[in-house]
Amino acid sequence: MTAWSILSRRGLFKIRVQYIHNKAHLQLRTYSLAGSGSESGASQDPPHSCISHDIDPGGIAEMRKAYKGTNEIFDVGDLVSKEPFKQFLSWFEEASKTDGIREANAMSLATSTKDGIPSVRMVLMKGIDDTGIYFYTNYLSQKAKELTENPNCSLMFYWEPLNRSLEKHFFNFRKLYLIWICIHFSQHVRVSGAAERVSEEESSKYFHSRPKASQIGACVSLQSQVISGRKVLDDRNEALTKKYLSDDVPIPKPDYWGGFKVIPLRFEFWQGQTNRLHDRIVFRKLQPNEEINSETTQEGSNGWVYERLMP
Ligand SMILES: Cc1cc2nc3c(=O)[nH]c(=O)nc-3n(C[C@H](O)[C@H](O)[C@H](O)COP(=O)(O)O)c2cc1C
Repeated sequence: MTAWSILSRRGLFKIRVQYIHNKAHLQLRTYSLAGSGSESGASQDPPHSCISHDIDPGGIAEMRKAYKGTNEIFDVGDLVSKEPFKQFLSWFEEASKTDGIREANAMSLATSTKDGIPSVRMVLMKGIDDTGIYFYTNYLSQKAKELTENPNCSLMFYWEPLNRSLEKHFFNFRKLYLIWICIHFSQHVRVSGAAERVSEEESSKYFHSRPKASQIGACVSLQSQVISGRKVLDDRNEALTKKYLSDDVPIPKPDYWGGFKVIPLRFEFWQGQTNRLHDRIVFRKLQPNEEINSETTQEGSNGWVYERLMP
């Protein structure tokens, strides 16, 4: 029998677990060792919805997460740069290092036909420089056709589980508290701009840097085309795998596969706050003949200006 269990049995120590969730900016777990008395901490209110949707599987209307504390706002003083690419890289690096985020480079890409019918899907950012953000795809796909007839598009990176844990120990004469504080961050970056194809040379270089199975996959899939069943894909994959994996020749990049660069005109950096007064800082290019309103808008570098939006 451990010392712990002997002391517990004799009532010298009590353990209490309190859990505050979504009530405040922080999530607290308090373990009180020894003594009695009532420690602070609220229990969770029973969920009640004032929304009258007929169907609400799993309590969607009540899903609500606490984000950062209000004393951790994201303000213009927190910008690491006065131009958006460096600011983006700073957030991106943090997201890439966060355990819960497997693909920080995953982004949604919204396109639209020339008649304005929109469409959105996920793609992976495969490069960024100070002129644009790169991804690769099939030029026969719906997204590529839409970008060809209408290059205007929008990207969204959403990094939800940016959690930071702090551990604190408090001791006083009668009690020892261990407190874990878990602060939830939620950030997104929205980019709007226009897409253009990258050169054949650049696409080919990236294509050949991919694992062979991915190169074969790109040859197999005529992305977004209708087929009669999975077998069509499997047969094509088998045939091309036999052809290319048996000998050591490089796999030629199909003409219909390559990259796009999205050239941004606007970046929005958004950081969630628990009280829903979220922080939004936008970088945009000045409109021709536009004069800066110095009360709201600040001059950045490389032709960018930045300003705060209401949430
Ligand atoms: C996380 C994730 C990343 C993806 N990355 C790419 C990508 O880089 N390129 C691509 O063509 N499709 C990618 N896809 C598949 C697309 O979302 C989409 O299904 C496909 O490109 C066809 O889209 P379209 O018919 O609108 O052109 C990805 C899907 C997911 C879920």
